Amino acid sequence: MSKKATLQYDGQSLELDTIVGTENETGIDITQLRAKTGMITLDPGYGNTGSCTSDITFINGEKGILRYRGYAIEELAEKSSFMETAFLVLYGHLPAKEELETFEAGIRDEAYLHYGMKSHFEGFPDNAPPMAVLSSMLNVLSCYNTELLTTATKGPAFELPASRIISKVRAIAAWAYRTSQGKPFMAPRTDLSYSGNFLHMMFSQQFNLYEPLPEVERALDLFLILHADHEQNCSTSTVRMVGSSHASLFSAVSAGVGALWGPLHGGANCEVIKMLERIHEEGISPRAFVEKAKDKNSPEKLMGFGHRVYKSFDPRAKILKGQVDNVLKALNISDPLLDIAYELEEMARSEDYFIERNLYPNVDFYSGILLRAIGIPVDMFTVLFAIGRMPGWIANWREMHVQSLRISRPRQIYTGEILRAYTPMDKR
Ligand code: CMC
Repeated sequence: MSKKATLQYDGQSLELDTIVGTENETGIDITQLRAKTGMITLDPGYGNTGSCTSDITFINGEKGILRYRGYAIEELAEKSSFMETAFLVLYGHLPAKEELETFEAGIRDEAYLHYGMKSHFEGFPDNAPPMAVLSSMLNVLSCYNTELLTTATKGPAFELPASRIISKVRAIAAWAYRTSQGKPFMAPRTDLSYSGNFLHMMFSQQFNLYEPLPEVERALDLFLILHADHEQNCSTSTVRMVGSSHASLFSAVSAGVGALWGPLHGGANCEVIKMLERIHEEGISPRAFVEKAKDKNSPEKLMGFGHRVYKSFDPRAKILKGQVDNVLKALNISDPLLDIAYELEEMARSEDYFIERNLYPNVDFYSGILLRAIGIPVDMFTVLFAIGRMPGWIANWREMHVQSLRISRPRQIYTGEILRAYTPMDKR
């Protein structure tokens, strides 16, 4: 028998069911609340609101646990590839050899962009923000896939748009970068891995093909694995919200890119590097910066710290921190920003302000240093996050349609003027 919760209000009471997940998280089911009491709940920022049940990702923020489909992120980071993880996130099980081969072949076959899309890229100014270009071009993809604008959740009608988006998002990102550099597009190479092909499309020159070091290719693959899903965050909720109106997968992920762009969400990976660069270039001491971040009268925050869900170390940050050293060694570079990051982290982790508020480094704190070492320009960092997050967004969009959820439509408590008579302009 499930536990019950009782709501007392206005001298009356209402018994509410509870729902317990497989990891014993408990929610109070309020789906009948308004019908039975006329009241709604108020939870700005949704910190206490579950919008769905989901089988995809489990997070325990207090213990720093992240699992995709039951598999620990640490194990996936060590043993899996982005393609295998993408399949897992999308379909719920680790693929058999043939399943993975078919999935990878589907992604390989879709690596190119329709040549007609070239003219759209040419319409953007050179300094167009890559996240704006990415969001726009994902929607443009729907113009080239009008037969796939459905809510299908299985068979080719789902698999085709899913693999097209996961594959073509790389080419869109690389084309956007090259357009901004005034460089010609680079055709994809189907002999390369998912990550290798992306690096090739970004950095190869016509007579000088880019050959990434295995450590670099692996580090990028790992970065993508770590970003593949993160349950009902701002962008994933946006993808679900847009998809709930039965808008196509293309439009839903395009909206997800818009939500991810912000500095409080995926955009934080750029902001961390900008912050570290500023500290370095302006000779600000990490101590002075930490003091500013603590000061409520200063707009400064310690970017890459804090998380709505993690109240201990973000496990993705731990993994990335370990990788950064490997990549810097493989590339034989040392980055002064890494020393500043270590210093900031050490300081913040011993300060009452951060300890009391459970502010730990999040995934974005070290990811920028890794991407910078690989040669990814700062304004492309959040685009890389979006490439990694695609399987998660698509899996959530799919799950929502498999569960036949209603259109998402929160309510509000109106606090504006009550009814008043219209005053003609000459009497105002
Ligand atoms: N630096 C200084 N103070 C902070 C920080 C920070 N990075 N983050 C939170 N705080 C303080 C905040 O001012 C508040 O203090 P008080 O209780 O005195 O008012 C307290 O900690 C709680 O913070 P909050 O803003 O209520 O927390 P939230 O859950 O609404 O926001 C967050 C979470 C991630 C937006 C926020 O921690 C933040 O802005 N961090 C910096 C940006 C960042 O790194 N974002 C990436 C998140 S991880 C990638 C992703 O999945 O999006």
